Amino acid sequence: MFSIRAMTLDDYDTVIELMSATPGISLREADSRESTARYLARNPAMSFVAEIGRGVCGCVMCGHDGRRGYLQHLLVLPQYRRQGIAKALVERCLASLEAVGIHKCHLDVFKTNLAAARYWQSQGWQSQGWQSQGWQLRSDIDRYSFTRAGNDNA
Ligand SMILES: CC(C)(COP(=O)(O)OP(=O)(O)OC[C@H]1O[C@@H](n2cnc3c(N)ncnc32)[C@H](O)[C@@H]1OP(=O)(O)O)[C@@H](O)C(=O)NCCC(=O)NCCS
Repeated sequence: MFSIRAMTLDDYDTVIELMSATPGISLREADSRESTARYLARNPAMSFVAEIGRGVCGCVMCGHDGRRGYLQHLLVLPQYRRQGIAKALVERCLASLEAVGIHKCHLDVFKTNLAAARYWQSQGWQSQGWQSQGWQLRSDIDRYSFTRAGNDNA
């Protein structure tokens, strides 16, 4: 059985190792130790790791801007998948957002990440019951990003 606890900066090396080994998860300068420390401090107890025994087998990062939540870097090690770990991690994130009055959360998925697309599409209204429509693919918005010159990997 797995357990879930809030991620701390002490988990940084482990989590980066998991992310580096997972196809579809892209690491950038925004994932540096310094940036992660700032993120965790700005969004206390909103990012989580899943453990089996004392080993980390999954993680997710979550934060908000005061209005909307944002979820990133959800992953579960291959040998522990299909046990509900990702579902439990995401539920903890959504509960932590709700606790501060935020009822809407976004996430980005590369269009090339078909496995992630399959997962999020499976998390639509069918799996969420009456409480929510679950995760809905947006076709009504386009994301625009501004990157300062010289920061292509920001
Ligand atoms: C996507 C991922 C996090 C799912 O983790 P998981 O712990 O296996 O997911 P869960 O066990 O919580 O799945 C819950 C339900 O989601 C659905 N689901 C899970 N994985 C799925 C997949 N790959 N494709 C379609 N549906 C999936 C199923 O309905 C599942 O319930 P079931 O096992 O009773 O059928 C994991 O496969 C992973 O780490 N993938 C690589 C990283 C990644 O793509 N992350 C998402 C990008 S943000």
